[in-house]
Amino acid sequence: MRTIKKRLLTPGPTMVPERVLEALSRPVLYHRSPEFKEIFLDTRERLKKLFRTDGEVLILTSSGTGAMEAAVVNLFKPGDSAVVVVGGKFGERWKELCEVYGVRPVVIEVEWGRSVNPEDIEKAIKENPEVKGVLVQICETSTGTIHDVKGIGEVLKNYPDVLLIADGITAYGVYDIPTDEWGIDVAITGSQKALMTPPGLAVISLNERALKRLEEVETRSYYFDLKKELKNQKKGQTAYTTGTSLVVALNEALKMIEEEGLANVAKRHELLAKATRAGVEAIGLKLFSERPANGVTAIYAPEGINGQDVVKIAREEFGVTIAGGQAHLKGKIFRLSHMGYVDIFDVLTALEVTEFALYKLGYRKFSLGDSLRAAMEVIEKC
Ligand SMILES: Cc1ncc(COP(=O)(O)O)c(C=O)c1O
Repeated sequence: MRTIKKRLLTPGPTMVPERVLEALSRPVLYHRSPEFKEIFLDTRERLKKLFRTDGEVLILTSSGTGAMEAAVVNLFKPGDSAVVVVGGKFGERWKELCEVYGVRPVVIEVEWGRSVNPEDIEKAIKENPEVKGVLVQICETSTGTIHDVKGIGEVLKNYPDVLLIADGITAYGVYDIPTDEWGIDVAITGSQKALMTPPGLAVISLNERALKRLEEVETRSYYFDLKKELKNQKKGQTAYTTGTSLVVALNEALKMIEEEGLANVAKRHELLAKATRAGVEAIGLKLFSERPANGVTAIYAPEGINGQDVVKIAREEFGVTIAGGQAHLKGKIFRLSHMGYVDIFDVLTALEVTEFALYKLGYRKFSLGDSLRAAMEVIEKC
């Protein structure tokens, strides 16, 4: 049997650096101990720096969806309306969460792979002046597409009662996002993406306006009661037992991001994304997104080839886990992630594995190594 080294190149969970793994292996801390309290408060401060916000940042023990649910159930009353951008699987999730909690979604359907036009948000608000918020993804991971959240923030400056709630689960730590400056009232992320930590923690930020709304709404969730969390977390406590080891690990990962520098982290992601795009285009593949993200690249499978087979060969024969398409895109696209603890050699690996898999599947409109050469040229020029 040959040795196969496992590599995780999906848009979450992502690879965890050795330093963070070491932090995870430390003895488990009691969540009410002074030692943990100090780490917890420090982690909240580091997250504020990452989000570039003067608002509050809460750490929730859940996956990212938990923070999305917390936003909906704590910031909207039943019968409220919210504009929801649905341009992929995670936009659909916002809509479903609204429906569960009796919030009327004013849906802006965006063709998957396209980016919402901020003018359409303004139009929806004008037509539905009762809306209390806009729910959107910064990066719609299912299509590898960026929405213009900065542009949406500009529009919302004229609507002070409408909260901008941005799911940045695959955007924070990929981009340097000035949350306050862009007018994002509530931002969300998860530990298992660009934050280089295993799954299990979600993060939600709330600015002044969001905190005011929080006071006005009676939550309908027992576990995701953000008022209760806020009161506790200001003191370095959580309402219930948190994932203490995950917080310790996240603290280490945030230190790594600070040491590299957020601007450099963003530049690295930009370069890796450019190299990936150049690589796949060099072998005749097409990008799925009209506005491709820097954390994940969605690629059409060539005519006659099932994208799931590319994923299967990459995993089973080469130990490289990449992602397929979701929902109706299953089989039509596959996704290469370059998010978090990723460097140029991970990108080159993903590209070469793609080439090998496509060769095996009979797509041979290129010579082996073509994608690597194109990617390396991008890297060399930077
Ligand atoms: C943009 C986006 N939103 C929400 C989620 C859901 O997060 P989780 O799976 O951590 O609940 C994901 C996960 O991939 C995501 O990429």
